[in-house]
Amino acid sequence: MIAPHPHVAAMAPYALADLSAPEGKRPISLSQNESARPPSPKVAQAICKAAENPHLYPDPDWSELRYALADLHGQNPDQILCGNGSLDLIGCLARAYLSADDAALAPEHAYPFFKTATLTTGARFDTAKETNLCADIDALLAAVQPDTKIVFLANPGNPTGTRLSGAEVRRLRDALPETVLLVVDEAYGEFADHLNEPMFDLVSRGDTLVLRTFSKAYGLAGMRVGWGYFPQDIAAQMRKVMNPNNVALAGQMAGLAALKDQAYMRATCEETAKLRDHFIKRMRTAGLHVPESYTNFALLQFASEEAARRVDQALRQEGVFLRAQGGAGLPNCLRATVGVADDMDLAAELIEAALQEEAS
Ligand SMILES: Cc1ncc(COP(=O)(O)O)c(C=O)c1O
Repeated sequence: MIAPHPHVAAMAPYALADLSAPEGKRPISLSQNESARPPSPKVAQAICKAAENPHLYPDPDWSELRYALADLHGQNPDQILCGNGSLDLIGCLARAYLSADDAALAPEHAYPFFKTATLTTGARFDTAKETNLCADIDALLAAVQPDTKIVFLANPGNPTGTRLSGAEVRRLRDALPETVLLVVDEAYGEFADHLNEPMFDLVSRGDTLVLRTFSKAYGLAGMRVGWGYFPQDIAAQMRKVMNPNNVALAGQMAGLAALKDQAYMRATCEETAKLRDHFIKRMRTAGLHVPESYTNFALLQFASEEAARRVDQALRQEGVFLRAQGGAGLPNCLRATVGVADDMDLAAELIEAALQEEAS
């Protein structure tokens, strides 16, 4: 047998959502934090246009998309990199900056891919306690070790949905050693942009970068387009380890079309927030603990791991899929992505009925 690196052999495969519906049931996936609303109608036109030239490689430099992003966010286009989803960029960061002698650090209920990307390099993955399901800056600072190279912070967080204020993220950055790279993953950033706390200016320090994606508020999860704002020298190192031609032509054109329709994206965020807050209110009334969410999902905390599992099973029997959170250290929680209104009502009804059954 041909042996992989021992640290790869020791890893568990990344757990994707199980979406196998019982026969005859329409599967309703509220499990992958996809957008409830399809993207701007301009995206379909852009994809059709891209279909005219599938025999050609895409722009390896994502120029049009980069310049449009720089224009929108008031950034230097040379410091923007695009990825095959932001997962691609997280993987490249780990490859470029972590080795077996290093460690990465994240809040205890961090997005699981931070750990996966770290472990593929042989580095250690450390976590710091959260407070009330939110990243805790003092705990993170206390957990920094001499070999800590990267701190991964999703803000807002997944699966918690909670968020540190801009001032708190700045306090974290100021107190971290300059030798520690802070990765602020704003995959859900557009859902919190109304709070007007942009983080992009931190990038000029040279030790911080910000990631975003088209997969959530722009509704392009299937197109696989992420991007980030990087210090110049980190961008230069990243380019060495990135796959050339990483974002397909259709993805680049879809991203550009979605970006140009800001009004549509904002309406998606507002509509999603309304559905989310209505659902959260209903779940709290039903007796669940649900932290405030700044994203397109809600974290439902049950009395026990068994209760969460039973409710998950009850929903699965009806073809409704939430996401269990044992992998993020929250075995008593299920995460519900905000879907269309009818699906949210159905999910809420099924959860309420399952909770009544639990109580009886
Ligand atoms: C915090 C966070 N970062 C990154 C990603 C990956 O997104 P993308 O589709 O851009 O790879 C996700 C997706 O769920 C996420 O929740």
